[in-house]
Parts: sequence; C-alpha cells; structure tokens
Amino acid sequence: MTETLLRGRLLTFHREPADGNDTDAFTYIEDGALLLRDGLIAKSGTFADIAAQAPLAPITDHRPHLMMAGFIDTHIHFPQVQVIASWGAQLLDWLNNYTFPEETRFADEDHCALMASAFFDQLVAHGTTTAVAYCSVHKASVEAFFAEATRRKMRMLGGKVLMDRNAPDGLRDTPQTGYDDSKALIERWHGKGRNGYTVTPRFAITSTPEQMEMAQALVAEHADCHVQTHLSENHDEIAYTATLYPQARDYLDIYESYGLLGPKTLLGHAIHLTPREIDALAATGSHPVFCPTSNLFLGSGLFDNAGLRARGIRNGIATDVGAGTSYSMLQTLNEGYKVLQLQGQSLHPLQAFHWATRGNAAVLGMEDRIGTLDPGTEADVIILNARATGAMALRTDRATTLAEELFVLQMMGDDRAIEEVYVSGKPSKAQRPRQKLADSDPRTCKAEPVI
Ligand code: GUN
Ligand code: ZN
Repeated sequence: MTETLLRGRLLTFHREPADGNDTDAFTYIEDGALLLRDGLIAKSGTFADIAAQAPLAPITDHRPHLMMAGFIDTHIHFPQVQVIASWGAQLLDWLNNYTFPEETRFADEDHCALMASAFFDQLVAHGTTTAVAYCSVHKASVEAFFAEATRRKMRMLGGKVLMDRNAPDGLRDTPQTGYDDSKALIERWHGKGRNGYTVTPRFAITSTPEQMEMAQALVAEHADCHVQTHLSENHDEIAYTATLYPQARDYLDIYESYGLLGPKTLLGHAIHLTPREIDALAATGSHPVFCPTSNLFLGSGLFDNAGLRARGIRNGIATDVGAGTSYSMLQTLNEGYKVLQLQGQSLHPLQAFHWATRGNAAVLGMEDRIGTLDPGTEADVIILNARATGAMALRTDRATTLAEELFVLQMMGDDRAIEEVYVSGKPSKAQRPRQKLADSDPRTCKAEPVI
C-alpha cells in the first residue's frame, strides 16, 4: 500500500455552478487535504481531519497553491505534435499541405514511440491527465499511444483514424483493413488498465460509404467504446461533404444514417449547424466539442455554446492540437471566453474550471472515475499557482475572491501555472528532468540545473 497526503487549498465540483454565487456546486477548503492511496483518492477534507486519520502518511505541502482534479481534453490529435503552428491555411488546405504529409510519418514504429513520449510529456506539463485522441491511420500509432499511456498509468481514450479516400498514399486504409485493425486494437487495448478505445472515422470526406458501414459495424459490436469524428467545421468542408453524400439531408445525417450518434459520440467543432442537425444532436444525446484555439486559428467560426445548451445538449471543450495552438486547457478556456464574448455569451471562471474537469468527465460519462477530488475516484490531481509569472503575481495581488484568482489562471495561465501533476497518485511533472540545452548553446549557463 502506498499513501501520500497532499496539503493545499482544495477545490472540487459537484455539478456545474449556475452562476458565480452558486457555492453549493463546489467544495472549497482553505486548508484542505487529499489522502492518495494506491492510485485512488482515499479521503478528502480539511487537513486537520485527514491528517488525524492518516498519522503515518508522508505529507507533501502544496500551500498556498490550489489542488484540483486534472484537466480533461476531449479532442486532440496525437500525430500533430509537429504540425501545431503551421501558417496561413484554412481547414482543407491545412490538412492537405501540412497535416496529411506529417501523419504519413507515423507508419514508422520508432517515430510513433518517440512522438508518443513527447506528446504525453506535453499533456502532463500542461496539467492534462486524460485526453481523447485521434491517432493516425496506422495501427502502430495506436500501439505507441496506448503503450505510453499504460506506462504512465494515465486514463486515455483514443483510436486509429478510419480514412480510405481523399488522402495521400500511405495514409489510406480500406473498409476491411480499417475494420480489422480497429477490431484488433479494441481487443488488445480497450478496458486494459485505464485505456479506452474510441472508434474514429476521421470525417465524412475521408471515408467512403463502405467504410462508414464498417464503422457502423464496429460501433454496434462495441457499444462500450466511445466514437469520435469531425462535424461542420468549415464552409468549404461542408459543401464538399454534400457532394460526396448527395442523398444525406445534411452533414450530421451522414453519421446519423450509419448509426454513429449517441451519448458516447464526440463531434469536434460543430460550428455551422442547421436547426435539424441541432434537433438530432439533442435527440441522440451526442456531444459537440468546442475547440476555441483551433476554430480561431483556422478561421473556422464561432461555436454557439449557449444556443446548443439551451437545447439540452452537453458540450465538451478541447484543445484540438495541432490546429489548436496550445496544449493548455487554461489557454483553451481563455480563448473560449473570448469566442463567447464575441457572441454576447458569458463564461464564469467557476463554470470554466468545472467544464475542463468534471464537465468534460460527464461528457465522457466518466464523472464517477475522473474530474473531481471525490473519495473513490482516480488520483489525477493538479496543483495550480496563480502567481506563476510576474504578470500573474501582480494581478493576483489584487484578487480578493476565489473566482478572481481562477479568472487570472484562466486568462493568463499556461504550463507555467501547473506546479505539479499527480497521475494515478504519482507526482509526474516536477520530477521530470528539464530538457538539457546543448553545451555550445550560449543560454546553457543561464538555464536551471539539469538533474
Ligand atoms: N477534420 C478532419 N481532420 C481534421 C483534423 O485533423 N483537424 C481538424 N481541425 N479538423 C479536421
Ligand atoms: Zn480535430
């Protein structure tokens, strides 16, 4: 049995706050504690109570920082770690000119392993403890993804993209190989440790109707797997999709007619929707995913969070790296706030932090396991510092409420504000050695010591 007692300011959500005054929606304890035992949160409460109940547990004191559940990113592309920040294009050109060529490199196992390690380093550095990832078309990319997740004991969801047309050589499967590879990967990884397979037809443009039928079979045969795809991100994409599926009533109807919708389905972007599509999203309980940094970067459009919510639809929020420009869920909330401001919608910091934690967990149907600091849930915990930079410290000096402090983190925070990250109860950020600069680099003498 391994036990650790974390001391700090504790914040966890029980439901989404209705507004800034809805204090019943969360627990905040100024001198709080978490007892972590064997990868789970064993106890949570005031430091005085928990320390008395676990007198022998070693204590890590994180005061004055905030302890929260780890962030959950509900849409990210693992093979795009070296695509992020590629200049000047909107969706279809960006895919053809930058993204597809890069993803062909994931045919190579060694490249997959190297990139998986780098990808998970970035997630942890930014406080993301669970992500729902698109891997490449190659089975090897999924193998590397889940192998690395398993090694780090991270709760991860992901899957191989199904794509059998409108993509370059080396980046297409066939309806049969796509089905067979997905099936083999599900058998090998789904439900093993903390891994969950996600059936992943990339989007309608890159899948023939025959492949959609195979995706339908996979979903029907594996009802406990999540499903992810892209929907109505860009006007040219929507117009092209309509030519490929002329019989469909609209974009969503393609996924609907192949039985791909439901409460386990995540639909990235979902920006330009018709009233019928919104009805169908509500009726099937499917989840649009708001990707603010990506939607701004590719010039895709403004996500109507309030409009969808008014129909009872539960939206996720995500980075969408590499069209997204930051791995940070704090930066994602920052840009999300601005996108909603442009539409006269608001995002209170308490709602924002709920969204990136318990809210996204609920979208995945996993709030009993991740997204809170409740006893019995998995010990994925982050330590947040609202004074991480000089500019943040200056502003935080004038903050008088928890909500104000959270808003500083939301608008100004990034990986520098993540002091520590516990994954399955194990400290995983601060202990990692800093990347060594080359000896010839003139900055070496100024760099912090490499341990
Ligand atoms: N639509 C299909 N593939 C992608 C992708 O990789 N990124 C984004 N943003 N949209 C997509
Ligand atoms: Zn995407």
